[in-house]
Amino acid sequence: MLRTHNCGILRKEDIGKEVLLTGWVNRRRDHGGVIFIDLRDRWGLTQLVIDSNQQEVYQCANNVKSEFVLQAKGLVRARPEGLANPKIPTGEIEVAVSELTILSESKPLPFEIEEKNETDESLRLRYRYLDLRRTRMQKNLILRHQICQVVRRYLSERQFIEVETPFLTKSTPEGARDFLVPSRLNEGNFYALPQSPQLFKQILMIAGYDRYFQIAKCFRDEDLRADRQPEFSQVDIEMSFVEREDILELIETMMKKLFYEVLEINLETPFPRMSYDEAMNRYGCDKPDLRISCAIDDLSQLLQDAIEVGSKNDSWKGLFFQEWKSFSRKKADLLSQMAKNAGVSLSYIKQGKQEATSPLKNKISEVAWRKLLEKYSFQEDSLLLVAWGESQKVLPFLGNLRVNLGEELNLIQNQFKFCWVLDFPLFEWNVEENRWDSMHHPFTAPCLDQLNHLDIDPSQVKAQAYDIVLNGFEIGGGSIRIHRSDLQEKIFQLLNLSEAEIQQKFGYFIEALQYGCPPHGGIALGLDRIVMLMCGESSIRETMAFPKTQKGTCLMSGAPSPVSDDQLMVLGIQLRKKKESQIVKDR
Ligand code: AMO
Repeated sequence: MLRTHNCGILRKEDIGKEVLLTGWVNRRRDHGGVIFIDLRDRWGLTQLVIDSNQQEVYQCANNVKSEFVLQAKGLVRARPEGLANPKIPTGEIEVAVSELTILSESKPLPFEIEEKNETDESLRLRYRYLDLRRTRMQKNLILRHQICQVVRRYLSERQFIEVETPFLTKSTPEGARDFLVPSRLNEGNFYALPQSPQLFKQILMIAGYDRYFQIAKCFRDEDLRADRQPEFSQVDIEMSFVEREDILELIETMMKKLFYEVLEINLETPFPRMSYDEAMNRYGCDKPDLRISCAIDDLSQLLQDAIEVGSKNDSWKGLFFQEWKSFSRKKADLLSQMAKNAGVSLSYIKQGKQEATSPLKNKISEVAWRKLLEKYSFQEDSLLLVAWGESQKVLPFLGNLRVNLGEELNLIQNQFKFCWVLDFPLFEWNVEENRWDSMHHPFTAPCLDQLNHLDIDPSQVKAQAYDIVLNGFEIGGGSIRIHRSDLQEKIFQLLNLSEAEIQQKFGYFIEALQYGCPPHGGIALGLDRIVMLMCGESSIRETMAFPKTQKGTCLMSGAPSPVSDDQLMVLGIQLRKKKESQIVKDR
């Protein structure tokens, strides 16, 4: 080894030892006659001291700049009285250097490694190797590693086996576009990178493996956001002979273990559960952030016939804030403009020192006014937002507002709040394409007691699906699967796939279902999102070593990039210009 110790390990007990250290120059200070170098590696910092009477070493240290890589030999000694640094674990010692070697030089840096102000993200991604030297990124990646370790250990103890499934495969529909890879050996044919290992894990159940897991890379060509990347990792799980409760228990126990072992946080289980309908009605979305205590109330019964505004079919909703001191007319106008833009009407009731006031007051019957005030037990500075219109517009509007105001008014508790969302509809109507889409994916089993609705009104059929939500992020989703080929075919037909399409896309899977398929179910957890939340970050890019930009590019390597004519020729591919109509559609 080029070193005897790392830069974070030496303590008072090591005083008197001769050591060999390697690392990067974090900082060099010249105190005229003595040079101090903070040498850094993954484990920490150690202060090197170079005295001018060590002429050769001093000369070398004089040439050293930030981020040079050094090897230093020297004696561990106590820092002089009063000069210990209690902020770092090695703060009581320093190394008096007797030999110094520059192992590698560094160009002047495009940004300081531990910059006080946040460096522009595109610069960080362009020089990701420098960015990854920062303590924050190191902490995040180490935490990610620990999370993976706990997950692997836990699932292995529960008799799961890790199986790798292919990247070069056929399309697995998860609602995004596929990344395609041309095949040289099969000209004109393409592999699709997996959007998830869904069909392979189900086939492993058919093959009798019973309990499978994988920390799987998935690829989805979709619009990117802070919690979405085109390639990301799932903790992918499948089990045979199970019901929904078995999966929920497995995941709750895993989360409990994970948070305890990695963050020393004791989670309370079981996690709260709510139906999809309840989530939509109370929180305006299917991933409610339960750190914010207020929720949407239905005021339709109370107001519909007791108010002179809106129309008969309007749905009336309320969002109550126990205390909102800074609420002003200006804010009210801003909110109602935002509501208008979303096709929603909005007003408010505010409790002042003496009485409650509202632009709606003269338009509500006295009985309804009194009932409203009683319902919420208004106190001084309490505020009720009242929204009305079509419920499909009012609910998401209030749902968004709830989260945004939660942040603005500091209502978000510093906690980890999990919940399960259950009883999703099996299908959702795709207005543009005029057909049903699967709400999760087409392999999700319908609730068995509702099978007859499939032919009558598919919108009524609930799925045996579940999502796990943490602090307003969907961190996982899964379901009990269809294990009968006839039902699977029927679902494909309802999704408007022709017989030929079913055969071409999923024929192999339908066939596999005909060779003894056990009842089975599973789930996939979004590893990057879990790491993001456990690290306290607000973007999954902070938890991946080499993420892509919002435009799906890697600023460090320059991917994606053009390929040569020769490469295209070998693949039998000729590039065409996109049609204008396609460009518009892509936007
Ligand atoms: P689903 O599509 O819900 O389910 O994905 C599971 C979880 O993966 C995470 N996730 C993402 N994370 C980062 N970037 C993305 N683009 C991205 N897309 C999804 C989310 C999500 O909850 N095969 C099913 C699982 C199953 O049924 O077992 C599936 O992939 O946290």
